[in-house]
Amino acid sequence: MQNPEHIAQDAAAAFAATNDPDALEQIKARYLGKSGQITELLKGMNRFSPEEKKLAGAAINRAKAVIEAALAARREALRQQALEARLAEESLDVTLPGRGEIRGGPHPVTRTLERIEALFRSIGFEVADGPEIEADFQNFTALNMPEDHPARSMHDTFFLLDENGKPARDILLRTHTSPIQVRYMQAHVARYVHLDAMPEIRIIAPGRVYRVDSDATHSPMFHQVEGLWIGEDVSFADLKGVLADFLRRFFENEDLEVRFRPSFFPFTEPSAEIDAAFMSGALKGRWLEIAGCGMVHPNVLRHVGIDPERYLGFAFGMGPDRLTMLRYGINDLRLFFDGDLRFLRQFV
Ligand code: FA5
Ligand code: MG
Repeated sequence: MQNPEHIAQDAAAAFAATNDPDALEQIKARYLGKSGQITELLKGMNRFSPEEKKLAGAAINRAKAVIEAALAARREALRQQALEARLAEESLDVTLPGRGEIRGGPHPVTRTLERIEALFRSIGFEVADGPEIEADFQNFTALNMPEDHPARSMHDTFFLLDENGKPARDILLRTHTSPIQVRYMQAHVARYVHLDAMPEIRIIAPGRVYRVDSDATHSPMFHQVEGLWIGEDVSFADLKGVLADFLRRFFENEDLEVRFRPSFFPFTEPSAEIDAAFMSGALKGRWLEIAGCGMVHPNVLRHVGIDPERYLGFAFGMGPDRLTMLRYGINDLRLFFDGDLRFLRQFV
């Protein structure tokens, strides 16, 4: 009789040598099939004595069990191989780079506006606002602007058109934030008309304003922040103190060069304009006008029903776009409004 142990070793080696599941089943038949080697051995046992049968039977069954175990293991290994091959073939690359989220951030002028608000709130100013489409009265007349004031001319002011397509002279895009002074004082007077003494007014008013104007330091749409402090005892020294202190805190620079230059506004007397020097960038050392200011003109107070013999105060209107230019050393204000992300991303 052929040695069953050798047959089992042959079978295991033959199973291991094939990678094809169909071939594996054919090899199996060579050992366990109807005329397979193990089957033949069992058939041949008729010739043995009962003693021999017992021994040979046990050896053959052991070999058969070994072959079956080797077969099962090989089947499983081939199944696993096939699965892996299929997975590799059908796999999707889910690790593509992302589409790239652009990290946004506030516009540099918005940062400036937020900073201005925070600094003025910290010294007790409230924040007020008003409409961008404004009436002639609040934008000009109440501010003591004579009919022939240059800001009224077609060259500076965007007028709205009436139903005939002609400029409607009494409705316009505000040319500055000063009309908010007028609106705020009118409402304040109406609110406290029953009191002997009117509470102080201390506001700033940020917003967009419009002028027919365009170059490196002028944009047709720009921002202003109005300031107004009205009380019984407010002086030009307070004006200088508040603004000088604000500018030092805004620029975080004790050495900032600032000058007050005598100027003229119909709605203030005396009046000044404030210039600051660039601390960095291509324009380092050059002066840039950042605000107009002065003591509120008695005629303005009269227009809103406040007694100029009893109350007085100061007002200012500054250009936050220009403060932003100075802060970051930028020499053309139009960059802020072009919407070019290569420029704006630098501030994120
Ligand atoms: C005024 O508009 C006055 N209403 C300011 C004022 C308010 C004076 C209260 C007195 C009391 P002016 O035209 O100078 O003033 O403008 C004020 C500031 O706005 C300027 O100093 C400048 O910083 C800024 N500014 C003016 N025009 C433009 C423009 N076209 N683009 C960008 N900023 C401008
Ligand atoms: Mg000016």
